[in-house]
Amino acid sequence: MGKKRVAVLISGRGSNMVALIEAAKASDYPAEIALVVSNRPEASGLTRAASAGIATAIIDHRPFGDDRGAFERALDAQLRAHQIDLVCLAGFMRLLTPWFVNKWTGRLLNIHPALLPQFKGLHTHRRALEAGVKRHGATVHFVVSEMDSGPIVMQDSVLVGAGDTEATLAERVLEVEHRIYPQALRLVAEGRATLASAAGEDAT
Ligand code: GRF
Repeated sequence: MGKKRVAVLISGRGSNMVALIEAAKASDYPAEIALVVSNRPEASGLTRAASAGIATAIIDHRPFGDDRGAFERALDAQLRAHQIDLVCLAGFMRLLTPWFVNKWTGRLLNIHPALLPQFKGLHTHRRALEAGVKRHGATVHFVVSEMDSGPIVMQDSVLVGAGDTEATLAERVLEVEHRIYPQALRLVAEGRATLASAAGEDAT
């Protein structure tokens, strides 16, 4: 069976993207990073992708204004042009509409810096500290229309210490992200984790 062709969607520095690129170098890894797309032309991750020899594309959302549909049609066309099988959101800061999510359902993953269903949305580390949780972490999940709510493929946690700040917590959670995203993508690319199995449905 050939390797799955993966697109990574970014908006910023792309450290999770780099973790996926590194993992995909292994000959037995079931996926190749075929394309990196950024909605922000200045995203530093684009340079990192290009220097790793990965095809990159910029689809700036700003010229599309409020027309999310038109932005997503351009994105979808780019993914199809590169014959993409699976899409990984990695610090991609655009909400996707049901049209796009439904088109890629079961083939669209996201990483979130919290132990979902806790702390959906932004500023997860600050909110974890404010809530006084003992454990915090990261989650890879299938994307559904509702933000940060899809079936979970993998998560792992770190202990929160008394001396932790937003910055120290972010750093330790990022290490978790870089470890679990490649592992989760492997499971999905091998067909060992599916939307249905992650949702707890029997594969009958
Ligand atoms: C990560 O913490 C990711 O979970 C969050 O945004 C950050 C992106 O970091 N959604 P990077 O661009 O992968 O370095």
